[in-house]
Amino acid sequence: MTNTRDIILTTEDVTVTYGTHEALHPTNLTFAAGEVTALIGPSGCGKSTFLRCLNLMNREIPHCAVGGHINYHGHDINTPKENLYELRKSIGMVFQQPTPFRKSIRENILFAPKRHGRIRSKEQADELVETSLKQAALWDEVKDKLDRSAYALSGGQQQRLCIARTLAMKPDVILYDEPCSALDPLSTMSVEETIRDIASTGICEAIVTHNMEQATRVSDRTAFFYVGDMVETGPTKQIFSNPKDQKLVDYLTGRFG
Ligand SMILES: Nc1ncnc2c1ncn2[C@@H]1O[C@H](COP(=O)(O)OP(=O)(O)OP(=O)(O)O)[C@@H](O)[C@H]1O
Ligand SMILES: [Mg+2]
Repeated sequence: MTNTRDIILTTEDVTVTYGTHEALHPTNLTFAAGEVTALIGPSGCGKSTFLRCLNLMNREIPHCAVGGHINYHGHDINTPKENLYELRKSIGMVFQQPTPFRKSIRENILFAPKRHGRIRSKEQADELVETSLKQAALWDEVKDKLDRSAYALSGGQQQRLCIARTLAMKPDVILYDEPCSALDPLSTMSVEETIRDIASTGICEAIVTHNMEQATRVSDRTAFFYVGDMVETGPTKQIFSNPKDQKLVDYLTGRFG
């Protein structure tokens, strides 16, 4: 992490309302290139709700309204005119359950780039498959079976395939919502390493996690949410070694959550 942060995304007084229930109160956070931000807090406190603001996923939810400004490279994307199809090329998302397509490993990687007209030759396709899988630390395990179904992979491998598929679109932001909660400890470790390696290439990442060890291993910065409020944020080391808010202290000492 550098001293001067290269800010990619900023939320300014972002709120989320489902019907009449304000699930997220005005939230201000910044996300920088090459940094991993962990979003922590007890169940139901608004972590996923907030994460979904960052690539406008809440628009898919009926009765959900997002207020405030979401500045992506200095431009407010929280406007009706924003082109979601274009935006999601550069802000990728990885979910709790691995969600590969019912296709081969190769086709999982190439599906979106093909749809967006980015593939011009067989060589380019092969190269993209290889670099994306290498970046997601999956290449060595699958290089001899690229035409096999993605469903034949283990859960951890499927999750790394989903990360590789996201990387194939060359995003500069990747959002993860509890990406390891369905994985065993070894697979979790490789996904965590992958997330760190991706950050070292300058990509900006945000990860929702219930696992405090994971937050300390993987993130540079942490934001703590509690009942719809972003209560405290700062460098991860500081949040864990010197938490200020009593609710955060209670959460970290396991009094609730
Ligand atoms: N689609 C939805 N429709 C209505 N209310 C919702 C919806 N999604 C979330 N909520 C409400 O918003 C609040 C925050 O939920 P959210 O899923 O963001 O919490 P979370 O911090 O991600 O929880 P968890 O750790 O359990 O995943 C909760 O009160 C929840 O009931
Ligand atoms: Mg959630």
